[in-house]
Amino acid sequence: MPQVFGKLPIHARSWSTLGAVSSVEQDDRGVYCQCGDALLSVTVLTPSLVRVRLAPTGKLLPRRSWAVAKDDSEWSPVSMDVQETEAAIEIKTAKVRIRIERNPCRLVCFDQAGRPFAEDAETGIGWSEKTVAGWKKMDADEHFYGFGERTGLLDKRSERKTNWTLDALDYTTVADEMYQAIPFFMALRPDVGYGIFFNTTFWSQFDMGACKPGVWQMETHSGELDYYIVYGPTPAEILETYTQLTGRMPLPPKWSIGYHQCRWSYESESIVRKLAREFRDRRIPCDVIHLDIDYMNGYRVFTWSPKRFAEPAKLMRDLKETGFQVVTIVDPGVKYEPEADYTIFDDGLKEDYFVRKANGEIFHGYVWPDKAVFPDFLKPEVRHWWGDAQKALTDVGVAGIWNDMNEPAIVDRPFGDEGVHIWFPLDSPQGPADEQATHAEAHNLYGSGMSQACAEGLERLRPTERSFVLTRSGYAGVQRWSSVWMGDNQSWWEHLELSIPMLCNMGLSGVAFVGADIGGFAGNATAELFARWMQVGLLYPLMRAHSSMKTEQHEPWVFGERTERICREYIELRYRLLPYLYTAFWEAATTGAPILRPLVYHYPNDPKTYALHDQVLLGPSLMAAPVYRPGVECRAVYLPEGIWYDWWTGTRYEGATHILADAPLERMPLYVKAGAVIPMQPVMQYVDERPIDELRLRVWSGDGEFILYEDDGRSFEYRNGSWATTVYRVTAEGERTALHIQARQGNWTPPTRTVVVELVGVGEQRFEDDGSDRTLTF
Ligand code: GLC
Repeated sequence: MPQVFGKLPIHARSWSTLGAVSSVEQDDRGVYCQCGDALLSVTVLTPSLVRVRLAPTGKLLPRRSWAVAKDDSEWSPVSMDVQETEAAIEIKTAKVRIRIERNPCRLVCFDQAGRPFAEDAETGIGWSEKTVAGWKKMDADEHFYGFGERTGLLDKRSERKTNWTLDALDYTTVADEMYQAIPFFMALRPDVGYGIFFNTTFWSQFDMGACKPGVWQMETHSGELDYYIVYGPTPAEILETYTQLTGRMPLPPKWSIGYHQCRWSYESESIVRKLAREFRDRRIPCDVIHLDIDYMNGYRVFTWSPKRFAEPAKLMRDLKETGFQVVTIVDPGVKYEPEADYTIFDDGLKEDYFVRKANGEIFHGYVWPDKAVFPDFLKPEVRHWWGDAQKALTDVGVAGIWNDMNEPAIVDRPFGDEGVHIWFPLDSPQGPADEQATHAEAHNLYGSGMSQACAEGLERLRPTERSFVLTRSGYAGVQRWSSVWMGDNQSWWEHLELSIPMLCNMGLSGVAFVGADIGGFAGNATAELFARWMQVGLLYPLMRAHSSMKTEQHEPWVFGERTERICREYIELRYRLLPYLYTAFWEAATTGAPILRPLVYHYPNDPKTYALHDQVLLGPSLMAAPVYRPGVECRAVYLPEGIWYDWWTGTRYEGATHILADAPLERMPLYVKAGAVIPMQPVMQYVDERPIDELRLRVWSGDGEFILYEDDGRSFEYRNGSWATTVYRVTAEGERTALHIQARQGNWTPPTRTVVVELVGVGEQRFEDDGSDRTLTF
């Protein structure tokens, strides 16, 4: 990994820091404090969202075209009260009070009970050379989550996290920089919770008390310190506001929530056909087959190998008939191939779409196609061109794109020679000419830009059908364009365990549609590891198995009959849970809530959940306690306050408590909260195999509510009101439990179906669904 930022550690450098406030100005958004040459701007965007900017030169930087989804001027006016005293300036909103001390200039927020948060430490804000930094106090019982894609466990207290995208090949628990760079985290302690979005695309770093206990710090190689304080106090409220700022995921096609099978590579038409047949013959549900780099002609992006995939359109037609969608990989490196009639290269060159160095030469490096050049996705016209170029894939029936190597991953010499990873020189100009950005500012955006190009292009090319987009790299807000997977993991038990906190922290960073390669990408899984991984994979919002070339085959049936049975059972359970899961996707799309949630998300006032990385909630009420070790057949499970039921046996437990769960290889311990409603459908071999003629509502006695979301799962008609929601309310009184069903809302009508209400452990009632309100009692 190249060490381009070989500076002294932050505490060993000398910093200019903010002195006294010399003058204050106000407008209807906030206050602006002059401190010598420096300017501190504190603006209020919602009662819970505050933007803080410090320009050491006194001049705030202009807005960039790729900045947050919502600019300051786009937020509705907020009512606030500003008071100036001799000691401080105070801004009060309906949710928080922000106090700016005058001498020295320091900022602290308070909640309504007067509890401080996001409080500047003694040093406050500082700058040195081309770096700005901020220091804040951290409470003894404060814990930190999010930070985008991170290895290690759940809570990042005492760790240092760098935001700089790179090909994190062979990553382990101690890796720092990863494929994704999302400079956002949330800080939680009992009753207090807030998020910090560090609004910088330059290299940046958080240090959560690693270098100085009791102080966390943020540092970036930018000319301005720019961060948002997102008050909660709950994680759900923090994410709701944070995703208003950086955007939310669109509803994906429902088939993309089914099971995906991938390998580097299913390298010919006949191999793909055989794979598809195996799934159907063995009755293992599957919706998606991914094609890795070998479908291309010599790794030329947007081409097909005439030998291995001579008739891609026919292949895709046939696959569709048996319910398979095809997703193809796309890499950003365009083969450098003058005078060879390779259109993408010729057009990109002619239109000047490839990244150039500061001296004007086109940058090149080496990737799969050998010598390659790279589109500048920061330019809108390049994104448009690239998006349209996907026609070569969508025209033959491709329904989704898997964007890889977009950190970007480049080596300095042809493959086979011992190359090192490089990136564009940091002074390479990028983006629209009038923005004068260099790669130093644009590096972290490369994957997001490629994803945006892809998603927007697919919507133009497939205007009536939703497409699936997957990316390896991205920046904050990548959720607007794409789902994300955790790159090249290994077939290790440790990586199985790691995947849950990794995906949870992605969800807590606003990226809900995430997955890790089931079975592990590199290396060979054992049958036991594969079976356990498939169980955990059922919980991944993106359920995709993938394996590298030179590894043994990793399909569900290659490990023997017992593993195949377990894989089938858990993939089937995934399909049965689709109505519940799809609703969780809708929630993510409308509120920014994660789909996979660490327990701290729902129990932020229970310190026992703060470090709990190995249990997880799928949606609001289904909790899993998977097994992550070979030979283990039982495990400790923490059940937070309230009543819980064992999914498999119906056994009732009273939390908060620890229990010992039975977990033979066939069983991943699963629990449900009292009062939960989990809507389920019959097993299908693929999502749209046939209309859902039976909706089963599994209900657990207690008090609770669930809103079911439905639509056609494929088109964009839901944007025109073609959706349906149904509110279910469970109430328990003494021995009796009632389910109140409200009349269905929205313009979408589900196919004719029977609703079976199962009060778990008690009995069933059924009725023909006419969308009207009714109450069932048990
Ligand atoms: C990268 C990707 C991996 C893919 C491989 C070949 O390593 O992370 O998923 O299979 O490239 O395209």
